[in-house]
Amino acid sequence: MDLELTPEQAMVRDMARDFAVAEIEPRAADDDREHRFPAETIRKMGELGLMGMMVPEAYGGAGLDTVAYVLAMEEINRACAGTGVIMSVNNSLVCGPILEFGTEAQKRRWLPKLARGEWLGCFALSEPNNGSDAAAAKTTAVPDGPGRWRINGAKQFITNAPQADLCLFFAQTDPAKGSRGITAFVVEKGTPGYSVGKPDDKLGIRASHSAPIYFEDLRLDDEQRLGEVGQGFKIAMKTLDGGRVGIAAQALGIHRACLEESVRYAKTRTAFGQPIASFQAIQWMLADMATELDAARLLTLRAATLKDRGVRFTREAAMAKLYASEAANRAATHCVQIHGGYGYIRDFPAERHFRDAKITEIYEGTSEIQRLVIAASLLKQE
Ligand code: CAA
Repeated sequence: MDLELTPEQAMVRDMARDFAVAEIEPRAADDDREHRFPAETIRKMGELGLMGMMVPEAYGGAGLDTVAYVLAMEEINRACAGTGVIMSVNNSLVCGPILEFGTEAQKRRWLPKLARGEWLGCFALSEPNNGSDAAAAKTTAVPDGPGRWRINGAKQFITNAPQADLCLFFAQTDPAKGSRGITAFVVEKGTPGYSVGKPDDKLGIRASHSAPIYFEDLRLDDEQRLGEVGQGFKIAMKTLDGGRVGIAAQALGIHRACLEESVRYAKTRTAFGQPIASFQAIQWMLADMATELDAARLLTLRAATLKDRGVRFTREAAMAKLYASEAANRAATHCVQIHGGYGYIRDFPAERHFRDAKITEIYEGTSEIQRLVIAASLLKQE
């Protein structure tokens, strides 16, 4: 793995950093407090190419690689993890599978609007009664005359659902076949039978909204099926491999914010007549945070590099997400601890990072699921 960034990757990182510092960071605390979706910011991110980073230019995207995406994700999430997950879902979970599994007509129909940020997408896999056991989805799609499907069911905790113009979802087309009986579909907002419920009141990432989705006799043409009938579970899993690299990068951003806030506070806050940064108890926390941040970043960049090479990266993506998310939570705990009482109130960003970090251990596969994926790949080897 080459540890040097290309000039293009460095330029993308710097552009994302400048944008995040100027446009996202100043409003992050208010968006969090007011549970406010940053529509204008997302529109500008679309103009900058941040909403379809790995989509080829021919389909309206920025035509960049996964390493550039990871670098940009870290910068955006350092400023606001709520904004970061809106970006992550659109890039990894919506544009990604349409690009990989869509027909030429589907790519031309959906990618340009999504990649330019004119449309926002959501990815609906989880249901009220299944999250980790993704193959146990109960939403059904049954044939409804030639070339038509009728869909019934419900999805839960769907990031971007309230704002999404397009939803990529999974339904059972042959329940007897288990995971091989799942098929992927795409529905556009406004289609009768498709509706979005009340947004969730979340602990963190509050600039991003999630909500349940309902399918009530939703009728779709076969042109809205993504991939082959029965291929849906593999589409979901391959998509989540990429998504997990994005969430690892989100954790890097939160982690770095915690480290930077901690260093700044430790140098200015005095106790017992000296800055608290002069105490070893604080220095050790800072050293652990910095070391774990670098380790998490290397794991994440390795997974991104493998994805860019076109080789299987399931295990490396799971390792990156597992380690980066747990390290971000340790960093967030240290950050609050270093801030003492000020870490526990909203006047300082430490408590927001603490709340935001938690979700990285839950969505796109919990830490427990990442350990299962890693162990399964180890045990499969001779
Ligand atoms: N790539 C390609 N194929 C894969 C794959 C991958 N990464 N993972 C599994 N498969 C294939 C297997 O090879 C197998 O294929 P065959 O049928 O040909 O043998 C098939 O899929 C079934 O695999 P498993 O038997 O391993 O499936 P399982 O039912 O035991 O489940 C699991 C495995 C890893 C637990 C999976 O269910 C999982 O990842 N669960 C977590 C779900 C998740 O991450 N949800 C996130 C929701 S989206 C979200 O969170 C977004 C957001 O809010 C921001």
